[in-house]
Amino acid sequence: MVTFRQATPNDIPTLIKFDREAQSKRYTAYLTVGEWLKEMSESTVYIFEDDSVPIGMFSVQEKTPDHIYFAGFVVGLQYRGRGYARQAMCYFLSMYSNARRIDLVTHPQNSNAIMLYLKSGFFIEAWKENFYGDGEPRIVMARVKI
Ligand SMILES: CC(C)(COP(=O)(O)OP(=O)(O)OC[C@H]1O[C@@H](n2cnc3c(N)ncnc32)[C@H](O)[C@@H]1OP(=O)(O)O)[C@@H](O)C(=O)NCCC(=O)NCCS
Repeated sequence: MVTFRQATPNDIPTLIKFDREAQSKRYTAYLTVGEWLKEMSESTVYIFEDDSVPIGMFSVQEKTPDHIYFAGFVVGLQYRGRGYARQAMCYFLSMYSNARRIDLVTHPQNSNAIMLYLKSGFFIEAWKENFYGDGEPRIVMARVKI
């Protein structure tokens, strides 16, 4: 059974392992304890587990009670393509169902992620050149309650 909990500093080695596996020009990874402590001070980092085995993670930043920013979404390499990301997205959206706006950024070539976000009610809103300063663009995707 998949369960979700807030990550703590004790989880940082696991979070770094997930990010190392995900790192590519399409995904900006946090590979140091310092980066994760900063992320934990600014966002709530969630880790999800299947029968206590860590499967993946995501971060949620409450910019205002009405505006949620979703980031750091990774499923461990060996667990991809099995529906875990879909389950995590459903859990996240039910947790923040009252938010009027949820947004995120992703790389325009990250087809797997973009498909999942589109199927989850997000639309493509904007293009940002060099978003993280690494020379790569990102697209902004948003899910807005009407
Ligand atoms: C994006 C990511 C989280 C998806 O995780 P996952 O567990 O493999 O995804 P799921 O198995 O739950 O699939 C959910 C949806 O994703 C898309 N998807 C996942 N794998 C796919 C693949 N190989 N090809 C095409 N679409 C795919 C599909 O739309 C799928 O929907 P479906 O079940 O209706 O077909 C995972 O690939 C990952 O961790 N990537 C590296 C980090 C990253 O890029 N994160 C996104 C940052 S914005």
